Amino acid sequence: MYCYKILPHLPSLPDWLQAEALQTFGTDVTLNVSRPEYASRMLTKDSETFLSTRSNRSDLSSEFKQWVKEHIVDTFTECSISRTSAELSAYQGPHTDKTRDFVLMYVFESGGPDCRTVWYQEKGQPFYRPGRQWLMINDFAQLDVIEQVQLPKNTWSIINTQYLHGVENITEDRICLHIGLDSDDFLKEIQ
Ligand SMILES: [Fe+2]
Repeated sequence: MYCYKILPHLPSLPDWLQAEALQTFGTDVTLNVSRPEYASRMLTKDSETFLSTRSNRSDLSSEFKQWVKEHIVDTFTECSISRTSAELSAYQGPHTDKTRDFVLMYVFESGGPDCRTVWYQEKGQPFYRPGRQWLMINDFAQLDVIEQVQLPKNTWSIINTQYLHGVENITEDRICLHIGLDSDDFLKEIQ
């Protein structure tokens, strides 16, 4: 199973939908509010302990979702825009996702020139950690890096969220679209 795939053959987002998405600020759909320790999550790397940044994801309009259904994928768990603060921390801590098995991402703002999405394996554990366990590993000494990528801007990519993953080197606010998925079966039809 892959960590990510870049999907350049999927259609780019029209400018008017991009403009609408960038103006959307709404209720966070991440469920993070139900896990208070997430807001003050601390990470340890190279003997330093520091805060993890966090993302807010806002639900997009029914018009937006209709465009996604017609042009990208007809079934999804979520269609949102995320904002990840660079001010809080350069790291979004390693985790597996709670609300989706895969996510289609479309990067508007990459998070800085060296910002990377990274996949990790916890020492002594299998790489694949299915079941939406919402794992959070805070000590990088417990992890081996398996894969990393700088996702291209304005292009669709699919991410496997049931491997431990996080974001590193966030030096500017990061802004992405998220289409949450229960499966990646739709790829079989378009590839
Ligand atoms: Fe995630």
